[in-house]
Amino acid sequence: MAIERVLIVGATGNIGVSAAIASLRTGREVLAVVRNAASAEKFFTNVGTKEGITTVEADVTARDGMQKVVDRVKAGELPGFQHVYACVGLWLVTPVHEVSDEQLRRHMRIGFESNFFAYRATLLYLLAQPSPTTFTACTGSADTSGYAGLTGPTQGALVAMLNAAIFENQHRPNSQLRINEARLNIRVEVDAEAEKHGVMKASEYAKVYEGILEREEIEGSRVVVEGPGDVHELRAEKKLKG
Ligand SMILES: NC(=O)c1ccc[n+]([C@@H]2O[C@H](COP(=O)([O-])OP(=O)(O)OC[C@H]3O[C@@H](n4cnc5c(N)ncnc54)[C@H](OP(=O)(O)O)[C@@H]3O)[C@@H](O)[C@H]2O)c1
Repeated sequence: MAIERVLIVGATGNIGVSAAIASLRTGREVLAVVRNAASAEKFFTNVGTKEGITTVEADVTARDGMQKVVDRVKAGELPGFQHVYACVGLWLVTPVHEVSDEQLRRHMRIGFESNFFAYRATLLYLLAQPSPTTFTACTGSADTSGYAGLTGPTQGALVAMLNAAIFENQHRPNSQLRINEARLNIRVEVDAEAEKHGVMKASEYAKVYEGILEREEIEGSRVVVEGPGDVHELRAEKKLKG
């Protein structure tokens, strides 16, 4: 069987590195979207290898940035993929009433739009694949905890977008696509930083994405991690409440 590949959008961050480690551990290759060569080097260092990884530079915040990547895949200039992991984002712990217009737009653009663009650009490509495919996005608890200022609204928008995507997918005849939300309610960092700060390592959190990739019953689900035990016994609950 041909080797599968995971397209990671937001690859160079803590969660992107975790998704890359999971992909490689499950025998898949990685197509990592990076901002520039420096980001790519940081990514290789944090993943611990270059083997099985192709990088492509793109502006994921631009409305056509991810579409251009998919067009290059279709043209055979980049390797194909069967799975997508979207985890572009940033923190803004500023009281909501102090957020400037510029900050508001920047955070919605990076934290929500980039992940939305990744979904919009890859959906039809994923549906056209002959084998089962997945789309996963990382969210956190900021939308319900109220913590972290504007981070919550960007995550909340992404949560709602995933609900709509799941609903549409479940009404699509014969879809082989699984859409899931990886909801992370604790701090994860690349291994070297996690050790310094006493938080969960990206290589440990990778077990969650390994499960999402490998377990076909995880579909239309939110996979919640609130503590270390949750990476061993996955807590997958259906997202749509009817
Ligand atoms: N880490 C956690 O514990 C945690 C917990 C809950 C939820 N989450 C969510 O998961 C997502 C990723 O978190 P993370 O910790 O991996 O964040 P991160 O380490 O800051 O990485 C964010 C990613 O987004 C990219 N990015 C940020 N601004 C960009 C811009 N203007 N243009 C292009 N790319 C940009 C970064 O690229 P560069 O590397 O080039 O900067 C990086 O790939 C976020 O939405 C976050 O809210 C994370």
